[in-house]
Amino acid sequence: MCAENREVRVSKIKDGTVIDHIRSGYALDVVKILGITGHERQVVTIAINVPSKRFRTKDLIKIEGRALNRQEVNRIALIAPRATINIIRGYKVVEKQEVKLPNEIEDIVKCINPTCISNSNEPISAKFTLESEDPLLLKCHYCSYALEKQDVLRQF
Ligand code: CTP
Ligand code: ZN
Repeated sequence: MCAENREVRVSKIKDGTVIDHIRSGYALDVVKILGITGHERQVVTIAINVPSKRFRTKDLIKIEGRALNRQEVNRIALIAPRATINIIRGYKVVEKQEVKLPNEIEDIVKCINPTCISNSNEPISAKFTLESEDPLLLKCHYCSYALEKQDVLRQF
């Protein structure tokens, strides 16, 4: 029996979402960005620093009975740009999506500069350029303000 079968660390789920290949140590940030407080009814499993073939160790989150919308997937990309999102139905992986962080980030986070035009009454939505993925650094397209991961997490 191979090592994989000898030990099942977290059980398979019937229906829901598995966010896999989250960079070690980032699972709780992903939980925060999804607005999971622990007071919901879903069963949520969070695994931190588990052995991984791809990245030595990884974090992963299993959310039973919940699908993610596009906005939520985009938010995950900000915090965990190499994550894989697996949709599970009837115990089977029916969809696998690698998240991707684009160079231009629109409508996911707000600029933290109160005088930025994207925060005015003008119909201008927030837009950022990705300066660095890890550590996360976004630059506002309009006022050049820099946002770090903590600034992003505070918004959710
Ligand atoms: N998974 C689960 N419940 C299921 C099916 C899969 O929790 N009913 C989890 C697996 O434990 C794994 C992830 O969903 O963490 C993806 O499953 P699978 O595609 O079978 O695993 P791998 O082939 O290892 O995925 P990858 O190629 O993306 O590394
Ligand atoms: Zn701005």
